[in-house]
Amino acid sequence: MSLTPISGRPQDDLRPDKVGPKVTTASLRERKLQRNPIACLTAYDYATARVVDEAGIDMVLVGDSLAQTMLGYENTLTVTMDEMLHHVKAVRRGVKTALLLADLPYGSYQLDPQGALNNAARFVKEGGAEVVKIEGGEKRADLIRRIIDAEIPVAGHIGLTPQSVNVMGGYKVQGKNLAGIEQLMRDAVALDRAGVACLYLEGIPREVAAMITAEVSAPTVGIGAGPDCDGQVLVFHDVVNLTFGTPAKFVRRYADLTGLITQAVQAFRADVRSHQYPSDEESYHLPKETKAGLETVLERKRAMRR
Ligand code: KIV
Repeated sequence: MSLTPISGRPQDDLRPDKVGPKVTTASLRERKLQRNPIACLTAYDYATARVVDEAGIDMVLVGDSLAQTMLGYENTLTVTMDEMLHHVKAVRRGVKTALLLADLPYGSYQLDPQGALNNAARFVKEGGAEVVKIEGGEKRADLIRRIIDAEIPVAGHIGLTPQSVNVMGGYKVQGKNLAGIEQLMRDAVALDRAGVACLYLEGIPREVAAMITAEVSAPTVGIGAGPDCDGQVLVFHDVVNLTFGTPAKFVRRYADLTGLITQAVQAFRADVRSHQYPSDEESYHLPKETKAGLETVLERKRAMRR
């Protein structure tokens, strides 16, 4: 553990003045009406949550994509409630201004409605999430109503829903034919009527995303859904290149952290191996009197040995 005082405690507000007031589900709706685009990123830990929040992002999503990005799982199906909660709590400590959303993981809401309610409440009560996100279309409408009745705002997620990977037969763009478009429209309208706080649209043609965005009153947040959504979301690790693979078509990389971190690690390793690290300035020293006293003791020992 570093002895460096951890200056990054939640009470130290380093937020630049330009960052606005707390984002709420109500202010998201305003943003849709004003056609003022909403920016959302995932975050999975305290440090990235602080950086993302203090940079002025509107919505922070603790996505179940953390299964792959943080935990190295093959897909999102294996991540558990307890694993998700661990990350939600860490992100909660880092986020002050953005709206904090968390993905209910696979198996936590599909099996029985009472279990789903309990799990949604745990995210709010234990994790501090403000909105829970659920994948699936019209078949989730009743469940979403029940969760909202329990005073928990819900985000919908339709289109390419990664928790349905085995049913979809892979990660495939949805809504590419007329039947698919009709189903997506039905899904969007059903979730809108159920009262979702916002609607994530993943992996659908931009024309379909534009139609849904015009049709529903909930703000839409797109990922691989084109520019006409009310907002956009990307996975943090995609944005900064920490994903070790070829990015999807819609990903725009804004930084190369793999490159930067590799350089930093290699430089540290080289400094250690060549005795360049740590320097005298990076070392702690004895107080003068202790040093003089130690010299005297050592000298006495040397004299006794002679
Ligand atoms: O898990 C996730 O990161 C998501 C977003 C990409 C929408 O669900």
